[in-house]
Amino acid sequence: MTPSAHFGNPQQLIAAARDGMALNAKALQEFVCGMADGRTTEGQMAAFAMAVRCRGLNTEDTTTLTLAMRDSGDRLTRADLGTDRPLLDKHSTGGVGDATSLLLAPMLAACGAAVPMVSGRGLGFTGGTLDKLSALPGYRFDVDLPTLRATLASAGCAIVGAGHRLAPSDRELYAVRDVTATVDALPLIVASILSKKLAVELDALVLDVKCGSGALFTEEPDAIALAEALVQVASVAGLCCAALITDMGEPLLPAIGNATELNVVLDLLRGDTRAPRFIDACLLMGSEVMVLGGMVPHRSDARRQLQASLESGLALQCFARMTRSLGCEVDLEQSRWRAETAPVCVEVLADQHGVLTGFDARALGELVVSLGGGRTRADAGIDTGVGLSHVLPRGSQVEPGTPLMRVLARTQDQARLAVASARDACLIGPEYVTAPVLRGERRP
Ligand code: URA
Repeated sequence: MTPSAHFGNPQQLIAAARDGMALNAKALQEFVCGMADGRTTEGQMAAFAMAVRCRGLNTEDTTTLTLAMRDSGDRLTRADLGTDRPLLDKHSTGGVGDATSLLLAPMLAACGAAVPMVSGRGLGFTGGTLDKLSALPGYRFDVDLPTLRATLASAGCAIVGAGHRLAPSDRELYAVRDVTATVDALPLIVASILSKKLAVELDALVLDVKCGSGALFTEEPDAIALAEALVQVASVAGLCCAALITDMGEPLLPAIGNATELNVVLDLLRGDTRAPRFIDACLLMGSEVMVLGGMVPHRSDARRQLQASLESGLALQCFARMTRSLGCEVDLEQSRWRAETAPVCVEVLADQHGVLTGFDARALGELVVSLGGGRTRADAGIDTGVGLSHVLPRGSQVEPGTPLMRVLARTQDQARLAVASARDACLIGPEYVTAPVLRGERRP
């Protein structure tokens, strides 16, 4: 008898999910096991994902799903990682122009934490940390344990993929969700994020739950529900975790796209530019997780240390060491290397007077995907060079002819089409109401 015969077949599980019923825990665990070892088909995963997207899952089933996904692969303990530093991490629910992980990981490492950051590729219109790092020649995400240990030892941080070992069922389901309009299913987001994070023994995790036009959830009640579900499931699993709800009504960096975002982060690490909103987000997340992980008593102490890590160049040193240890062929500390961006660069000009009140940030994210910077098929490659740069911040006064941003494209035709869409995604009005990065209270 096959294991699934004990607990009903996958069709019965999918039917129960479709009908909004509580799920049989053993059947769910079997189904998840099958995602990793190939017994659960892509069609079954897609049907399950759509059923959950439409009917939801109760907390108990969301927890069972999360833990089964965690247990579908290896788990890394502190001993495996070979460090006695506080093990901290941060994860975002997905945004546009959000490269916080790239800056925050080395900042935390420079403050004395170890950051084994298991990250993902882009999902839907939101960017992915691994895609941004793929603009670095030679950088490898799928690394073995000795390389992960060596990277943590030399740099204090390692941004890597889950590979085939950590939460492999998430990799399969993530790819199916990306192409079946089920990315924004709350229980699947919870299980996806936490299964990867729980696979590594962490002292503390901070979750950045995005809310706004460039987030998976545009409305605050949905973002609050996601934050609460994440913290609830994490605490059942014994992980010390807090979630912050942050604004995603404009790209967090003045850039969207893999190479162009990486370049702004390199400029920030080198002290060559300022991006106050982005830095504010890094300080918020970093100070939260340093307090949670017991490194400092107060957020204000953490903020000072994090800021100093940038000013002293220590964060740059940690980033450069991490990239070198993970195969990057350029020395980012000694050289002024920048990632290559696409050759056609065209300005998007305002066509009216007023204030830049906001963006349809999702439309901008989708525009970058359509230029080739993201995937429309799970197995597709990406063009790291395309994107949008020099994005004007919200609240800027504009008049006809003011540059709103630049399109980076491969061809003039692509750029022409993108310029029109980018202009449409900029909202110009009579007045701007400020939108702080942190929206509402932290959970718990
Ligand atoms: N990040 C993840 O890892 N998974 C999701 O589902 C959303 C954001």
